[in-house]
Amino acid sequence: MTATSAGTTGSSPTLPALPHWESTPADLKAAIREVKAAIRARIAASGRSVEEVFAVVERRVAARVAEVEAAKAAGETVWPVIDYADIEAGTVSAGDLTKLRRRGCLVVRGHFPREQALAWDAGIVDYVEGNRFFESYRGPGDDFFGSVGSKPEIYPVYWSPAQMQARQSDRMARVQSFLNGQWKHESGGVTWFDPDRDSLYPDRIRRRPEGADSAGLGTHLDPGTLDLWMTEAYQQAFRHLFDGTVEQYDPWDAAHRTAGPQYPGTTMCSAFRTFQGWTALSDMDHDQGVLHTVPIPEAMAYLMLRPLLDDVPDDDMCGVTVNQVFPANETWHSLLLRAVSGIPDVTAGDSVWWHADMIHSVAPVTNQRGWGNVMYIPAAPWCPRNEAYAASVREAFLTGSSPGDFPEEHYERTWPDRFRAESLNTTGRRGLGLD
Ligand SMILES: [Fe+2]
Repeated sequence: MTATSAGTTGSSPTLPALPHWESTPADLKAAIREVKAAIRARIAASGRSVEEVFAVVERRVAARVAEVEAAKAAGETVWPVIDYADIEAGTVSAGDLTKLRRRGCLVVRGHFPREQALAWDAGIVDYVEGNRFFESYRGPGDDFFGSVGSKPEIYPVYWSPAQMQARQSDRMARVQSFLNGQWKHESGGVTWFDPDRDSLYPDRIRRRPEGADSAGLGTHLDPGTLDLWMTEAYQQAFRHLFDGTVEQYDPWDAAHRTAGPQYPGTTMCSAFRTFQGWTALSDMDHDQGVLHTVPIPEAMAYLMLRPLLDDVPDDDMCGVTVNQVFPANETWHSLLLRAVSGIPDVTAGDSVWWHADMIHSVAPVTNQRGWGNVMYIPAAPWCPRNEAYAASVREAFLTGSSPGDFPEEHYERTWPDRFRAESLNTTGRRGLGLD
């Protein structure tokens, strides 16, 4: 698709419009050069320089980095922790809410009773063993999580009773609503998403056994790649970064994020997620290869503006390209990486959440103590993008197929005890768009 300069971008029609590409540009380097020059020109036309705008973001982020470093030095838990009981009762303290929005990530303690989570974990083992999954396993369908040897750690299993029971549970719906509520979902007369209806985004399971060695996953983020700079909708979502009003950038504003196109890729998530998340199915200590984040939602502004500075080649977006996760690295983002912070110890039934734009990584581990088992369940509220994806999810659910965002492995099509439509409750039916 060729660039077009038609149309307006964002709230400043007097500034020069940005070229945009609604599908992946054929010549990536040329498109990067063109869009970077246009964003620079647009910022300059607002009366500010790119350096000045970036400095505002850098100061804001540096203050947060210093805060995180101070908390670590004082031995405090960087990650906010909130009891499920307080979310259910509506008694989360103002201080905890402030910390959640400041850090953009959360551990929900006791999201499910520990016995429930352990029973789900055992149920998954019965489900895969009963269906002879390990005998029929053909190896990783993608290399997103790296090679895992003969027995997988990531199970490409989506429709177990355990997963579906968790996805459609009242406790999950309540936490998702609470987390969605941290975002601004209405503005300018538009409802960008429904905070009280989740689209049941189906994802996989990880079961990492005792004694495992794992290289972990490097720091990266998942919301998109070059499309974040190049589609009209994302240019509007990030409008304040590109039009000289950077002080107004709000990482919790969902405007223009829930309907636009995305560039396809093996790591793409078709759904709009407010938070990524998983539910622990085993106890995990903080030093056993667990999740880390850069717990600073505003870091996204830094990541988006950093490629515009003069020391980055004109055809380079600090290493971001299509079909690979968006990397965060020491070359361009060393300030941010100083704040990398791991989750505290969790027990089975706790859940872990992080803002969809947040840099995250998984630490390496050798000879892991205990199991490392999780069900990936995010908060993906109902919106045009998620409604569109739900149509294919519904089909995958009914046939036991792998969902469209994942490799076409389809192990569960012939598994008789997968979760069936008759067992859906109201939340499940609404999430799949059946009601
Ligand atoms: Fe990720």
